[in-house]
Amino acid sequence: MERWILSYDDYAPEAEGLREALCTLGNGYVATRGAAAETSADGVHYPGTYIAGCYDRLPAEMDGRHTDNADLVNMPNWLPLTFRAADGAWFDPDRAQRNGRLLSYRQELDLRRGVLTRLVRVRDAQGRTTRVAQRRIVSMDDPHLAALETTLVAEDWSGPIQIESAVDGRVTNSGVERYRNLPGAHLAHEESTPQSDPELLLLRASTVTSRIGVAVAARTRASAPVERAHRAEEGWTGQDLTMHVREGVPVTIEKVAAVFTSRDRAIEEHGRAALSAAADAGDFDALLERHTLAWSRLWRRCQLSVDHVDVQRVLNLHIFHLLQTVSEHIVDLDVGVPARGLHGEAYRGHVFWDELFILPFLTMRFPGIARALLMYRWRRLPAARRAAAGAGHRGAMYPWQSAADGGEETQRIHLNPRSGRWLPDHSHLQRHVGLTIAHNVWRYYEATGDAEFLAEYGTETMLEIARFFADLAVYDRSTDRYRIRGVMGPDEYHDAHPGRDEPGLDDNAYTNVLTVWVLRRALDALALLPEDRRVELRERLALTREEITRFEDVAHKMYVPFHDGVISQFDGYADLEELDWAGYRERYGDIRRLDRILEAEGDSTNRYKASKQADVLMLFYVLSPSELDDILRRLGYGHGPGLAAKTIDYYLPRTCDGSTLSSLVHAWIVAHTDGDEAWRIFLESLFSDITDAQHGTTPEGVHLGAMAGTVDLVQRCHAGITTRGGTLHLEPRLPSAISELRLGLRYRGHWGIDLTCRQDLVRVALRPGAASPIRIRYADEDVQIPPGASWESSLQYGRTAPPAA
Ligand code: BGC
Repeated sequence: MERWILSYDDYAPEAEGLREALCTLGNGYVATRGAAAETSADGVHYPGTYIAGCYDRLPAEMDGRHTDNADLVNMPNWLPLTFRAADGAWFDPDRAQRNGRLLSYRQELDLRRGVLTRLVRVRDAQGRTTRVAQRRIVSMDDPHLAALETTLVAEDWSGPIQIESAVDGRVTNSGVERYRNLPGAHLAHEESTPQSDPELLLLRASTVTSRIGVAVAARTRASAPVERAHRAEEGWTGQDLTMHVREGVPVTIEKVAAVFTSRDRAIEEHGRAALSAAADAGDFDALLERHTLAWSRLWRRCQLSVDHVDVQRVLNLHIFHLLQTVSEHIVDLDVGVPARGLHGEAYRGHVFWDELFILPFLTMRFPGIARALLMYRWRRLPAARRAAAGAGHRGAMYPWQSAADGGEETQRIHLNPRSGRWLPDHSHLQRHVGLTIAHNVWRYYEATGDAEFLAEYGTETMLEIARFFADLAVYDRSTDRYRIRGVMGPDEYHDAHPGRDEPGLDDNAYTNVLTVWVLRRALDALALLPEDRRVELRERLALTREEITRFEDVAHKMYVPFHDGVISQFDGYADLEELDWAGYRERYGDIRRLDRILEAEGDSTNRYKASKQADVLMLFYVLSPSELDDILRRLGYGHGPGLAAKTIDYYLPRTCDGSTLSSLVHAWIVAHTDGDEAWRIFLESLFSDITDAQHGTTPEGVHLGAMAGTVDLVQRCHAGITTRGGTLHLEPRLPSAISELRLGLRYRGHWGIDLTCRQDLVRVALRPGAASPIRIRYADEDVQIPPGASWESSLQYGRTAPPAA
């Protein structure tokens, strides 16, 4: 059971933010932080509710400059529910704890069933003891429904009890301290009047500038006769239920909430839709049954197990939060993956390049979700084309931070809390986000064989991105090479060459090499299209023979900087100074935010060989050794077989893991050479959210890229899976801490591939009923496995057995 439960056995106000983020419940459409139902935003608690894709933009002043910010809106809070003995004070865990009256408090998240439970015993000032058991779900079955069931037992008293149940629309976006003096009031109040059905509450509001209508209806029922009194204020609607409790006899209050927006399909008006959904919903147990059934279907598709309980539990937690952010309920929505989930307001709910780390797990289990996320990008091709044209380029330039309309949402200044200074922010120069998108399209195609997607959307996306990068590359006659200037790589600690006024770096190796890869794959994708589609697409994009020749030329002559026998992060990196790592560690301890430390000292990370996160090393993460080797060889860069090892050894100690994505990438690439060290780094990455290793960032939202990436690491790196050319390549490398890894996968339309890796064995079985055999490649051998058959190979003896039915 431990592998399915996240639990806390106390009430710790200082840990509430973290627990709220980690106990968020959601279904892809909507998510609500695991805040206690009786609390509101007060510095300890932050009950946030977010609906996928619902952003609102407000004008703001930052450091005296006019700007505007699109926020993922904190929507009306459906949770509020509290109680009191009629003449006592409302239940408040903080006050009760301060007064020594919180007798016990346990919170438990059941990952398998998606249920958050709280068990509390509390005594009021009059000495009356009440036991509370509360269960909460956000339905994975019906994305519009959520429910809270509260059972109260008066342990040593009898008398009247009052319950307050409300919907609160007076919430603002104020969950992240450093954004707090920016405007966050995104909801305009519309309606909170009482309904003819006394059990129902309805609150309607709309977002201020994006004008999305939102309606939350709540139905509150009790297991005993009640008297109700309604109260409504602007932006708030609630009712008091008064009933009589008898000592030792439980009473149950059920609150079922329905959430709709004006963007939802198959409705006439969102308020009416919410009211009838709340009125017609079954009781808590009926909702729970359907909800757990939906989760059990999801878990069946997510089979991934290791014989290491602590690791398994966190992997389950990560899969759980991933599916709560991007479930099958997003397939009909137009949403991307917010880097911090629907779990908090960090990064304002924006979409970065993190889907690079998220899509592979989804593609091999829920290809429909992966496709929907790629469609989010395809729909924003026109915006990306406009951005490229605005910058004087051809093709599509995707924004580093994206929200509703695909415009650039990256802030232009940011605050260094250490120095109190506002600083220019050039991170929008991370053009590599476009390369990620093209890369994701191709990898999705490789893993699914979804030719229809490639023909209708994928190739166009890839070509337009390729076109932008081919245009960005400038031919340098003196070296007969193409160069890309004025960009940033993934490492955000380098945004300019020291001593230069204009921001941006020349020839970021990751960008240049991946550009070559994308140019080639874009042409491969074009070549794969049926003739008529190919002609039509070229015509539509006005893609001439000359432009294709340019693609080929850039892919043939791209410049890649090297120094000391390793790939340079960018041109001129070799001349940067070495940082006194030991000195800084000694002085500051945690130097993950080295940028802030140096800036506060009047210095800059730009001057040093010190990176926030994997940059050159990303190449070894996104490309297979043979892909990278092939690119460098064809570019004419001679290098020995030791390039990867040397480059990894060079950059690892020069990177301070200021992003959770960094240790994930490091764990992956080190796994090829040093299993034990890789496992150590993997554990760092795995436990980063559950322990809030970055000191205060997880309460503002989980790190979905690292969460999904760690799961994918077990899947693709430990099991050694790559998908190329219609063949599943296997090269398992189990860390010594694990003796067995089991995966259930989907690959190119084959449901139900069961893969088992042990230290001495690899076994693949294709469940019966598959339409055709699968082809796998293992240890230079090609094997076909027919449906219903299995194949295994003993690693110890290097023996393989023929497929056996
Ligand atoms: C990282 C980016 C990442 C973003 C959102 C930043 O700290 O440097 O690579 O995309 O967080 O997760």
